[in-house]
Amino acid sequence: MNAEFWIERWNQHQIGFHQKEINSYLTSMWSQTNLPIDSGILVPLCGKSLDMLWLADQKYRVVGIELSEVAASEFCAENSFLTTPQSIEGGYLWKFNSAISFICKDFFKVTAADTGKINGVYDRAALVALPPEMRKTYASHVTSLLEKGGKIFLVTFEYSQDKMKGPPFSVTKDEVSQLYGHDFIIDEITKVELKDQSRLAALPENEKILERVYILEKK
Ligand SMILES: C[S@@+](CC[C@H](N)C(=O)[O-])C[C@H]1O[C@@H](n2cnc3c(N)ncnc32)[C@H](O)[C@@H]1O
Repeated sequence: MNAEFWIERWNQHQIGFHQKEINSYLTSMWSQTNLPIDSGILVPLCGKSLDMLWLADQKYRVVGIELSEVAASEFCAENSFLTTPQSIEGGYLWKFNSAISFICKDFFKVTAADTGKINGVYDRAALVALPPEMRKTYASHVTSLLEKGGKIFLVTFEYSQDKMKGPPFSVTKDEVSQLYGHDFIIDEITKVELKDQSRLAALPENEKILERVYILEKK
């Protein structure tokens, strides 16, 4: 899944991953991260997710990272953020009050200078959007941007990968452990068998899909 794949998806408006509601795991379980207000929360591969608004409402400093300028402009327009972007190295930055920084740039090129201090990461549909060969680099980069003691709130899917081509990809509990186990304490906070198959419509009917939510704490 290279940049062109995602740019094209946004240009064609094939964005079935976008949720019109705030994510229910976020609203019901985020408090378990115990991250204090004013913490910097990174939302990698953020699309135009409304979850950023919820995090900002909780008084966090939110930093969303997204490749597509279409996503950025829709996020602004749909939330009545009337502001012009400034150029940064390799992309653009929109600042909405002091609460949300929306950075339109390749996540793999984002630096700590771009994000500021990051104490938490919200990963919904980001790790699972990436093919296996990109996930190690992604996890290392997320780890490098996060302070010691910082937390990752991670939502994954698990299903038979041979029955459907991602994205979203299946990321097993073992893989989460391989990617993050060295640097993080991993706590699985819930596991839900999905009844609604709409986001994985290409799967044969009645295939088992598990959604797992983890909180990882950086050692
Ligand atoms: C499956 S979508 C999920 C979006 C968002 N997390 C959500 O919950 O709606 C993945 C997003 O990652 C973006 N993306 C993919 N590769 C990226 C990269 N290297 N840097 C920044 N954004 C990227 C895509 O444009 C797309 O909007």
